Amino acid sequence: MNLRRLLGLDAKDEAIEEDPTPVGRDAFTKVAPYYDQLMAAVPYRSWVDYVESILRRLGHEPTEVLDLCCGTGQVGSEMARRGYDVAGIDIAERMVRCCYCREPKLPAAVMDAQEPGLREHSLDLVVSLYDSLNYIIDDEGLQNCFLGIGRALRPGGLMIFDLNTERALRIGLFTQNNLGSNEPLAYQWESQWDDKRKLCRVDMKFRWRGPGEKVQFTETHYERAWSEDEIREMVARAGMEILRVYDAYTFREPRMLSNRIYYVVRRLRVE
Ligand SMILES: C[S@@+](CC[C@H](N)C(=O)[O-])C[C@H]1O[C@@H](n2cnc3c(N)ncnc32)[C@H](O)[C@@H]1O
Repeated sequence: MNLRRLLGLDAKDEAIEEDPTPVGRDAFTKVAPYYDQLMAAVPYRSWVDYVESILRRLGHEPTEVLDLCCGTGQVGSEMARRGYDVAGIDIAERMVRCCYCREPKLPAAVMDAQEPGLREHSLDLVVSLYDSLNYIIDDEGLQNCFLGIGRALRPGGLMIFDLNTERALRIGLFTQNNLGSNEPLAYQWESQWDDKRKLCRVDMKFRWRGPGEKVQFTETHYERAWSEDEIREMVARAGMEILRVYDAYTFREPRMLSNRIYYVVRRLRVE
């Protein structure tokens, strides 16, 4: 038996030659008005429960929270409902606009996470969920993101984020469709994996078949796989340290078959 195939590690490797299109100019622009519909089944409340259980385990009681790459604000708004003082930033203007349409509204700004202009020592917690940081695809960009977050966190403050693992991107979890369902937003996605660049390209086709005008559009998304060693080095350069790495929604260490992992990072205290 081919063990690599059995474990889903033999995915097709295809070079991605082009420069990825920036998020906000293509990705998350046309889909923004339909994003919440697309995510209707995503258990955002449970995700916030999980974040809170991590905070309890670590005895961290944040007040001021940033939802980094907040999208339409589902996580930040849920945290605001639970009493945190939350704001969001995201690069895609049309996603940010949606943050003001929800209840409670999430105050949010259009800002590139690769150049976060945030006040020094102003935050107790930064959360960034749903593989948002996989969308930062070059070393300098992710390093600058951590540097900015490291400055904005108070000493002892935490950053909690999830990432799709290399395995998830490699085995084509993004190749999927819902064409057999009755969902008003039909989608068909095809992914491609470039092993050398550790880059996954997803060509997404959408068709709105709900009430009102029929609309069709496409978007192309790129996600980069980041290893734990890369994350460890980058956060260290930003004055932070990895406290925990979890197989998502558990308190276990990641395994070979983990598709999503959570990082808990702490801003070091300045001596
Ligand atoms: C998969 S969505 C997740 C959104 C949100 N965190 C959620 O849980 O629904 C990824 C988000 O990351 C944002 N994003 C990607 N690259 C970014 C960057 N460089 N700066 C800020 N936001 C970015 C996108 O615009 C998009 O809203």
